[in-house]
Amino acid sequence: MIDANTLWLLSFYRSSEISGALFFGRIARTLSASPIAHDLSRHFADESQHAWLWTDCIHQLGARPLAIEAAYQDRYLAAAGLPANLMEVLALTQVFEQRVIRQYAQHGRANGLAPAIRATLTRIMEDEKWHIRWVRRALADFAIRHGKDVVDAALRRFAQADDAVFNQTVDEHAERVREVYNLPRRQS
Ligand SMILES: [Fe+2]
Ligand SMILES: [Fe+2]
Repeated sequence: MIDANTLWLLSFYRSSEISGALFFGRIARTLSASPIAHDLSRHFADESQHAWLWTDCIHQLGARPLAIEAAYQDRYLAAAGLPANLMEVLALTQVFEQRVIRQYAQHGRANGLAPAIRATLTRIMEDEKWHIRWVRRALADFAIRHGKDVVDAALRRFAQADDAVFNQTVDEHAERVREVYNLPRRQS
């Protein structure tokens, strides 16, 4: 059986992956056929699969997922404002995926990680790397057609929102996250 902090964090991951899947699924449904629509559909399918992998991982560890109310993405969209076009969707996604991959990598370095958690992190990270690759490629195309300044401004806007929301979330759950990741306590 896993400890309460780990169960909370894995449930938080699961909830975030569900939010990501719903976000990309809604957008995928509105796009007509194009290379972006193709990749975005795979991205949607991946995030759904990640939600299932965390669900399965929690079960393997003898627990049941907790219902987590406000997912990170919901706060993130509230702070940054809804993306106004496809380029902004991709800019937001780029920033968010980089945050996810850093969090999962940090969790992967924790001591005494349960094998089921390690296997799930490793499996999901492969997909997350591809998410960053295809979105970066699509944003580079947008920059050629519409100007690098426009893309850079959107990336900056979403990075600021990400920082604000991430710091707020970490502050609220500092003790749990620090324990699970084996991080030193913050000196106050
Ligand atoms: Fe994911
Ligand atoms: Fe992802």
